[in-house]
Amino acid sequence: MNSSLPLIKLQGIQKSFLTDELETRALDGVDLQIHSGEFLAVSGPSGCGKSSLLAILGLLDSPSAGSYALAGQSVEALDNRARALLRNRQIGFVFQAFNLISDLTVEDNVALPLSYRSEMSRAERRARVAEVLAQVDMGHRARHYPAQLSGGQQQRVAIARALVGKPSLILADEPTGNLDSRNADLVMQLLADVHAGGATLCMVTHDPRYAAAAQRTISLFDGRVVADMPTLGPTLTPMPTPAQPLAARQTAEQL
Ligand SMILES: Nc1ncnc2c1ncn2[C@@H]1O[C@H](COP(=O)(O)OP(=O)(O)O)[C@@H](O)[C@H]1O
Ligand SMILES: [Mg+2]
Repeated sequence: MNSSLPLIKLQGIQKSFLTDELETRALDGVDLQIHSGEFLAVSGPSGCGKSSLLAILGLLDSPSAGSYALAGQSVEALDNRARALLRNRQIGFVFQAFNLISDLTVEDNVALPLSYRSEMSRAERRARVAEVLAQVDMGHRARHYPAQLSGGQQQRVAIARALVGKPSLILADEPTGNLDSRNADLVMQLLADVHAGGATLCMVTHDPRYAAAAQRTISLFDGRVVADMPTLGPTLTPMPTPAQPLAARQTAEQL
């Protein structure tokens, strides 16, 4: 699965923020390679630079220093328009807070990334949106607005939006952080399925159980990668099937 050319290659990435003459170094020399088809978990304490790293990987922000090559292409060399195009074609983002647009319906939210695809007809876009909503089991809510959905449903819609353009890289920043455990398990199962379908997945998570679903985990501390190791493997810490935690909780409630 791993070709010799990594999908992502970061070298000496630094990110500093200047606020009120105070400099915060969010990333302090990150070297990282991610291969196509990998599932990488990113862990570390609050403030260690996880979101800053994902924002750079997702071309939402630029590093203060260092180099980033995505699919062999040097990102620094691109102008804003080329970066936006690359982001739109190659990258799907899932955020902790879902970040759906409140005055658009579910289907219009999911269709948004396709609005830049001039080569797709309206009918093709509709068909693709329906397909990806079915994949996350939200087809029955296509005409609803985000506020009419539960958190778990909103995150499934956000995953559909991330997937609709068939990106090569999915970046998820604490995607289960705002969800109860049952919905978190469902969302995690969905992301694991997306990875099993061939996508490259890079996910920030605090939950060791979800990190265990990844093939590899890196740990950040003070803006540096302090550990980078293969995950022990799902056979040692199985992902529960979505039904199990609910059944277990119901049993506990009945006792
Ligand atoms: N836009 C910003 N302006 C100023 N400081 C920031 C900004 N974004 C992040 N930081 C700081 O950079 C550090 C890393 O933040 P972040 O990447 O969000 O960490 P994490 O996601 O691991 O909690 C923190 O000290 C944070 O306060
Ligand atoms: Mg964060």
